[in-house]
Amino acid sequence: MPPIARTPAAPAASPTGPRRLPAGIVPGLPLTALAPMQDVTDLAFMEVIARYGPPDFFFTEFFRVHSQSRPEKHILRSIAENTTGRPVFAQLIGESVPDLLRTVRELLAYPVAGIDLNLGCPAPKIYRKQVGGGLLRDPARIDEILGALRAEVPGLLTVKMRLGFDDAANFDRILELINRHEIDLLTVHGRTVREMYGGVVHYDLIARAVRQTRCPVLANGNIASAGRATAVLEHTRAAGVMIGRHAIRNPWIFRQCRERFARQTGGEGAPAVFQPSLADVREYIDLLYRATSTPAAPERTQVARMKKFLNFIGQGVDPAGAFLHDMRRAQTETGLFAVCDRHLLSDPSRLFAPEPFPGVIARPNREEAFERCSLDTTPV
Ligand SMILES: Cc1cc2nc3c(=O)[nH]c(=O)nc-3n(C[C@H](O)[C@H](O)[C@H](O)COP(=O)(O)O)c2cc1C
Repeated sequence: MPPIARTPAAPAASPTGPRRLPAGIVPGLPLTALAPMQDVTDLAFMEVIARYGPPDFFFTEFFRVHSQSRPEKHILRSIAENTTGRPVFAQLIGESVPDLLRTVRELLAYPVAGIDLNLGCPAPKIYRKQVGGGLLRDPARIDEILGALRAEVPGLLTVKMRLGFDDAANFDRILELINRHEIDLLTVHGRTVREMYGGVVHYDLIARAVRQTRCPVLANGNIASAGRATAVLEHTRAAGVMIGRHAIRNPWIFRQCRERFARQTGGEGAPAVFQPSLADVREYIDLLYRATSTPAAPERTQVARMKKFLNFIGQGVDPAGAFLHDMRRAQTETGLFAVCDRHLLSDPSRLFAPEPFPGVIARPNREEAFERCSLDTTPV
């Protein structure tokens, strides 16, 4: 097996003193992070993921920042009440410097690992306000925002970006800004805003970010398995991987990455990579349903929410998509779990596929399509 890069140990140099990224769970291995996902990566979801082997870092879904904003309470809970033991970075989306700085000051009163700026959200409702992915059209504005944030944030300041808006024309210029403002960690989702969530991921441009920036880079986009993570790290030489939708489907993915990385970096006697069975997946579904249920929510709301998660999970159950077909027709909790039992417990020791079966896709709800970053709009 070809070797993969070890995590760079060097701290970010700065006039205010060295700032170090928190150590990973297994120091020296490439880093893993759970991608921020609006309406998904709340406290309950982070805690469920952690049960199966946490990522090195969590990122909150974005706090919206504007003149009237206050940090959303449910997102604050994912920081203040987090019991996973892993660092949580607080992500902001906004463009008004005074409001961003006010929000940063409020968030720094919480146990955040750092402040992360969103430069990637592709939902038109968001980018039309010149925030998220919209800012990628305006490097001068990014310069101003990063300068102000760097002066306000004494600890870790991180950025999560796409390659550009229509194309990657501004990419190199923005990478220079990442260096100029001494960003401590950069995540690159290897697509433009126009490319939304589908199609190819431009890992060659992630590799360019790794070469051109002084900070560690996390590679993001379609990292479907520990095997894919290893291949992406070999190709990009990134410091680690950030994984979103595939962690919904497979919450063991961070543990599997660590096991795979340990073998790849030549760890003598490293354990084999864990392979969950369909029975394990059935248990995960049960845990996820209970963890994400709110007593006040009507059954049909809870069932509808669970189906959004199952849309992803079902991609690894059977190659014909029969589980997804039946699951989408269930109306009640009892009906939904009967479908799960039928498909997952008739041959419980069968292994869950490590990557989605080809052609079995999570179907978005077109009514809400592209209005926001949500599970309804972002199939794999
Ligand atoms: C439902 C959903 C919500 C998302 N919300 C956010 C968000 O709040 N902040 C952000 O930076 N990216 C957000 N993203 C993008 C992901 O963090 C990630 O960059 C993208 O899904 C690609 O990674 P993946 O292929 O591993 O899912 C969201 C993605 C999805 C699917």
